[in-house]
Amino acid sequence: MTSQTLLTGQILTFHGDPFAQPWQDCVQIDSAGGVVLEGARIIAVGNAATLAAAYPEATKISYGSDLICPGFVDAHAHYPQTAMIASWGKRLIDWLNTYTFPEEARFTDADYAQEIATRYLDLTAANGTTTVASFATIHPHSVTALFTAAAARSQCVVTGKTCMDRNAPDDLRDTAQSAYDDSKALIAQWHGIGRARYAITPRFSPTSTPDQLAALGALWAENPTCLMQTHLSEQPDEVAWVGTLFPDARDYLDTYEAHGLLGARGLYGHAIHLRPREIDRLAEVQGRVIHCPTSNAFIGSGALDLPMLAAHRVPLGLATDTGGGSSFSMLRTMAAAYEAAQHHGHALHAAQLMWLATAGSANALHLSHEIGSITTGNYADIAVIDLHSTAAISQRTNRSADVWEDVFATLMMGDDRAIRATWIAGACVTQ
Ligand code: GUN
Ligand code: ZN
Repeated sequence: MTSQTLLTGQILTFHGDPFAQPWQDCVQIDSAGGVVLEGARIIAVGNAATLAAAYPEATKISYGSDLICPGFVDAHAHYPQTAMIASWGKRLIDWLNTYTFPEEARFTDADYAQEIATRYLDLTAANGTTTVASFATIHPHSVTALFTAAAARSQCVVTGKTCMDRNAPDDLRDTAQSAYDDSKALIAQWHGIGRARYAITPRFSPTSTPDQLAALGALWAENPTCLMQTHLSEQPDEVAWVGTLFPDARDYLDTYEAHGLLGARGLYGHAIHLRPREIDRLAEVQGRVIHCPTSNAFIGSGALDLPMLAAHRVPLGLATDTGGGSSFSMLRTMAAAYEAAQHHGHALHAAQLMWLATAGSANALHLSHEIGSITTGNYADIAVIDLHSTAAISQRTNRSADVWEDVFATLMMGDDRAIRATWIAGACVTQ
């Protein structure tokens, strides 16, 4: 028999979407909870004592009053930007030209790509993140590097070759045809192999000709189980530039829709400066908006009105957007999401923030049946969080009236020091 492990602690479970119903009906914390792992999967969730009696052979690991929650799902990141995170100054287009493109050009070297892929998965695991949807670079081997590093840890990763055939340096440009051919070959090689999932990846409309967008739209139609990831309406200057590059488009979203790149499996990063038609259209097709709040603050893009999009029934995910984002930590990202919503007069509850960082992002990636919640049958991808990880947090939790105040203090002030353990596919990867 495959060995079994019983983890005990305070367990966070979801029973609905806390943006659609009162959060109390959807999110629970069981202070005497347990979860049983067998192989890569979760086989039981419930009361710790009941599970200990039902699974007497299981190896027991007690996490005391730590919070056992689903591993974080970072729904939009750029692993190739790991080494240039926190680069000073500039706004989006200058930032891309000055810092991002030169770093991505280094990925011509396949060994460098492998080194950064491994470093990136180490850094994210140390922050409790168990799945990422990451852009690669234009080099096909940059996709192979991340999928290979993830497979070595049995980790679920979404990535794809970034496609750019204009407005990028010579050494970072492909063509409409080569983007199609290379992406198609990578889909055949990786999509659905183990836990690898492919995302067709036009960087954003300014760096793709209409021909390239159309080629990638055709590829998506031929491979409808793939995801598609891109950027949308991040900064006003960018939106205006898109208007001049695509004079016939109704708006930014239309540049994707006109080329077959709008759909429920589409992941649209940022989406801060949307027009009403774009919001309605995203809701209608259930296109996913991925909120990147540390990046939006760092590059000065603006504060997304996430509760407004939720009220329009636009499906949402949460992401770091490293290295535009300033942290690998989804705890820091939840703090930034809280602050961004405050700019619009909304106070997100800790239960809503936790949902966004786990089940919400898993739903955005169409992977809820495998990840994002502690549920029987899902992969055992788990983050264990110390709710008293620093003196500053502990002195605050001494005043807490309930566990949600404890959780909120860690969401607002915690970082990688709060991550007691990260489990991926039933194996602890942080000790
Ligand atoms: N828009 C196009 N490319 C990028 C990128 O790498 N980072 C961010 N934040 N926005 C982008
Ligand atoms: Zn991005």
